[in-house]
Amino acid sequence: MEYIIQNQQLLPKKEASINFEDRGYYFGDGIYEVIKIYNGQPFAMDHHLKRLQSSAKKLDITLPYAEEKITELLMKLLNKNAVVDGFLYFQITRGVEPRNHLYTRNSPAVFTAFTQAAQNLEETQKNGVNVWLTDDIRWLRCDIKTINLLGNVMVKREAADHQCHEAILHRNGMITEGSSSNLFLVKDQVLYTHPATNLILNGITRQLLIDVATKHNYSVVEEPFPVEVLEHADEAFITSTSVEITPIISVKGQLATTFEVGPVTKDLQTKFKAILPRK
Ligand code: PDD
Repeated sequence: MEYIIQNQQLLPKKEASINFEDRGYYFGDGIYEVIKIYNGQPFAMDHHLKRLQSSAKKLDITLPYAEEKITELLMKLLNKNAVVDGFLYFQITRGVEPRNHLYTRNSPAVFTAFTQAAQNLEETQKNGVNVWLTDDIRWLRCDIKTINLLGNVMVKREAADHQCHEAILHRNGMITEGSSSNLFLVKDQVLYTHPATNLILNGITRQLLIDVATKHNYSVVEEPFPVEVLEHADEAFITSTSVEITPIISVKGQLATTFEVGPVTKDLQTKFKAILPRK
């Protein structure tokens, strides 16, 4: 049986029930994190908890428990569901109160968590994916990992309707990130990616990859770049907890170009795998 966590309770999934007046349900008023589990071990949990704290602070949400308690609850769930390779999802909504845009600071935040099996990444990591270039229609606080994801959801559907795995977004011609990933390109052995401003989510995979690449003497330039620079890149790839490092082989939509799965991408895939938890 599959279990979930609702507040501090470990429950069979079918026994979970969400209050009708949860602000997460009315307004998407909440935050979340997704952690990958490798060989039963959560990867980069400390980074994810730090980002959770930061998202909560930016939205004036009071976390219901201390970091140690959240870790304890998540580990309980992980063990109960005996997850070996999968995902740990958890979210915190601002709480339950009658619908009103104006929130009070009285309602205790609602904590929920579930686990999910991992998908097999072998094929996409080896052969790459198609992406769809479109307008970044999201708000101006993409740095906050909020469950309010309509802009991301809309462009992801648009990409899938054009047989693309991911939507790559630009704001007035400057590339920001993917709908659920960060974007890197490679030109003359140098890595380029959008800086961690309010216009992107500062991915944990992005942060760790920048560390790994820098340690191995790659130069990493964190600056905004226009669509034309992507067009003339040597290689391009996306990063996230769920896709790790996945090469881009073609861009469609507002730009049409193709890439090979290149040597720098392959090298970084290998170097990134080396920092993942082992058996
Ligand atoms: N998405 N940018 C956006 C908009 C994202 O939603 C994500 C992650 C990332 C990459 O972040 P990280 O490396 O920390 O996973 C970048 C997660 C996986 C999701 O929503 O399922």
